[in-house]
Amino acid sequence: MKKVLGILGSPRKHGNTHLLIAKVLEGAREKGAQAELVTLDALQIHECNGCHACWREKECSKQDDMNTLYPKIAESDVLIFGTPVYWYAPTALMKAFIDRFVYFNCPANRGKIQGKSAVLVIPFEEDDPEMVAPLLTFFDKCFQYLQVQCVAKLIAPGVTKKGEVRDRPEYLAEAFQIGQSLV
Ligand SMILES: Cc1cc2nc3c(=O)[nH]c(=O)nc-3n(C[C@H](O)[C@H](O)[C@H](O)COP(=O)(O)O)c2cc1C
Repeated sequence: MKKVLGILGSPRKHGNTHLLIAKVLEGAREKGAQAELVTLDALQIHECNGCHACWREKECSKQDDMNTLYPKIAESDVLIFGTPVYWYAPTALMKAFIDRFVYFNCPANRGKIQGKSAVLVIPFEEDDPEMVAPLLTFFDKCFQYLQVQCVAKLIAPGVTKKGEVRDRPEYLAEAFQIGQSLV
């Protein structure tokens, strides 16, 4: 059974990123996937400080919730990275999470991430879709480095208020369709 892990990087519960990821997971579930959502804001994820204990085949020195997320990530086939645009970048929650992917940058842990599929879910306020370009470059570079394949991008400009995507059925339909396409 395909395992899909949604990662919510917005601190706003039931906000636009949350609703869109939930739709992706719903679509995946409908096709028979096992789908789970993790909310970064509910977890304790400290900054990576480059101690590189993980490269010496030790556990991460931070001893926080990332230690339960590493095996969850390794068991998943598809990772859904959901973040709104915050100052042309990911949220601090999402950035801290990805910083901790240094763990995967050593031979012992490389196979735990390499070859996985990724999906991006990115809502933002401005109407110009080009505004998301720096954030897409960031993710493209990270995925390239990690040898992860980005299989779908849900880019949702023009949504600002909490839950505003509810008024944009085309975004919700696209999210559901992406979810179905993963299985
Ligand atoms: C701190 C902060 C920074 C933001 N920066 C941008 C930005 O650079 N460009 C943009 O279009 N929207 C920006 N926004 C708006 C959010 O991307 C938008 O409201 C989005 O729909 C929020 O998604 P959420 O409901 O999942 O949190 C920002 C919002 C906040 C709170």
